[in-house]
Amino acid sequence: MHSSERKFDLSLTDKVIAATGPNAHPRLAQVMPSLVRHLHDFAREVNLTVDEWTTAIELINECGRMSNDRRNETQLLCDILGLETLVDEITANIVSSASVSGTSTPSAILGPFYRHDAPLLPNGSSIVKDLTPAVPWYEQAVADSAYITGRVLSHNPLFPDMPPTPLRNAIVDVWHTAPNGLYEQQDPSQPDMNLRGRFATDAEGRYAFYALRPVAYPIPDDGPAGKFLALLDRHPHRPGHIHFIVSATGHRTLTTQIFDDRDEYIEKDSVFAVKDDLVVHFEPREQDPQAKWTLNYEFVLEAGMMGL
Ligand SMILES: [Fe+2]
Repeated sequence: MHSSERKFDLSLTDKVIAATGPNAHPRLAQVMPSLVRHLHDFAREVNLTVDEWTTAIELINECGRMSNDRRNETQLLCDILGLETLVDEITANIVSSASVSGTSTPSAILGPFYRHDAPLLPNGSSIVKDLTPAVPWYEQAVADSAYITGRVLSHNPLFPDMPPTPLRNAIVDVWHTAPNGLYEQQDPSQPDMNLRGRFATDAEGRYAFYALRPVAYPIPDDGPAGKFLALLDRHPHRPGHIHFIVSATGHRTLTTQIFDDRDEYIEKDSVFAVKDDLVVHFEPREQDPQAKWTLNYEFVLEAGMMGL
């Protein structure tokens, strides 16, 4: 007999699972037995006390109280535990054989700073708004100015040997932080929708815009997720990255990030989102007063996955 069987009434777990009724939501009926077993086993394994459980409840409650349309602390808590990266990977495995085989561009987590309805801008325009020498991070913005271009391509998993074909009118939705490491909604000094934009690809599937090379930033560490990181003796930094949602009619929407290979945190992302295929290298750009760097990046979407 195991020591846990002597110490605890294991029938409790079975009773909780058996309490689910015949008309329960089908997916919940499927997943809850596993959740209850893991949760109970965890509590027994670590000898979770009432004080510790109360502290954990307060942590989750505090995340909820702090969350609003500009900040999602509960999601941040999941992110530092690697849960968003894991469910993103699981979802990709379920819906796409191509992303697993490396044919289409890998996904990465959405993160808590996406805003809907970024302005639809003409190709070749800039997502850097109102940049003047009065802006505190002006010099770094000039030093990191970048022209980012590439194509959005379609891959059809029914014809795996066919090369990807260009997608016209795909939407490339992009967002990143200012050089101070803050997204515009976190920073009252930035114009609304700064460093955000949407671009429609042309007949060759091409998109192009001016932006900035991304910088590392700490995830917000003034809330419960930050306190939790400190208790774990962990740093809060994310490597410099640019977020994308790329969509096209008749294709699986791609949510991803690209990571600048110059970054010292590339191997130690606080939310564990870096994938090798998403690490990019910016090249110097000549004879362009608007950009010191350039990047060419192609997104490959998977055809035939409507509504996902
Ligand atoms: Fe981010």
